[in-house]
Amino acid sequence: QQIDLDIAQLEKGGYPHFMLKEIMEQPATIRDCIRGRIYDNGTKIFLNGVNHFKEKFLNVNRIVIVACGTSWHASLIGKRMFQELAHIPVTVEYASEFRYGTSLLTPNDIVIAVSQSGETADTLAAIKMAHESGAFVYGICNVIGSSISREADTGTYIHVGPEIGVASTKAFTGQVTVLAMLAVAVGNLRGTISDAEVSQIATAISNLPELIGKTLNLNEKIEDLSKIYTYVHNFLYLGRGYNYPTALEGALKLKEISYIHAEGYPAAEMKHGPIALIDEMMPTVVIAPQDDLHDKIISNIQQVKARGGKVIAVINENDREISQIADDILEIPSVPDCISPIISSIPLQLLAYHIAIRKGCNVDMPRNLAKSVTVE
Ligand code: G6P
Repeated sequence: QQIDLDIAQLEKGGYPHFMLKEIMEQPATIRDCIRGRIYDNGTKIFLNGVNHFKEKFLNVNRIVIVACGTSWHASLIGKRMFQELAHIPVTVEYASEFRYGTSLLTPNDIVIAVSQSGETADTLAAIKMAHESGAFVYGICNVIGSSISREADTGTYIHVGPEIGVASTKAFTGQVTVLAMLAVAVGNLRGTISDAEVSQIATAISNLPELIGKTLNLNEKIEDLSKIYTYVHNFLYLGRGYNYPTALEGALKLKEISYIHAEGYPAAEMKHGPIALIDEMMPTVVIAPQDDLHDKIISNIQQVKARGGKVIAVINENDREISQIADDILEIPSVPDCISPIISSIPLQLLAYHIAIRKGCNVDMPRNLAKSVTVE
């Protein structure tokens, strides 16, 4: 008897698309990403790149993170982590802008290049420029042996396995996980966070695979929700603090694969423009876990509702306040603020995926986009 094997189908591991496979495998990819880096029962974090270059991190003047696309969004989360946990001033630059500007880098600056492929032309050019100024370059890449990983002085691989879907999913959560481990390790080294805080965040990172698994159970609910929103032309995504970049990433996912116009905004900036667009035809996705800014974001939701806008809220379990005012809720487990985007981005990946599928779009190879942009 002959069995017909389709290689492409086999590679998708039983899923209809690489994108869904890559979203669903995140419990495993995050486990791979943290393996060997968190030890002593989740109380310590060890990264070679930090341990071998302690002096660089102890004497650093500032950090400049360079990246493009989804990697740039992960970098914005990293900025907040380094500032809060390691007390180092950070700027995040689009590599394409940075490479043609005046860098003002000094040998005491550290440039972190974040790139899934490790081949993005603008990011590569930015780190060459950094080296010319004598700055130390730390690479955060996925593809082993890629140009950026070879060009950097040291770095950390995210180890999430090959990402085939053009829209980045598992690489984003891997990048944010590595940035969290890096910020904690550097904060620990510099004495800006206590051993107890290190242990609290390290334990929470160790628990991520299980919590991501739980979050993925939202898949069916999100598939259902996508029916309502398939024919919408514009979406707004709002978040604050650590989840402002999550809003940018959620909007990017939707526009990349469903061709629906979507904008991500820091929730409080809504009143400086986007609020003018809100009506019953423009839904708003609000990322609102129970963090320090929870009260503030509730009032942002009320402002949207007062203008007839529909709200899909990503909230922590048992958030009764927001459950009562939002049109739809997606409940996620609670984790420390700094790693919250690793969980909260997952329902946004699924929402973009299901809306795009309903619209009949090619989610793995969206029009006009390339997985790796190796030219200017
Ligand atoms: C392209 C891809 C994006 C990616 C960006 C940066 O635009 O479609 O998914 O985020 O490049 O790529 P990198 O490999 O440097 O992370």
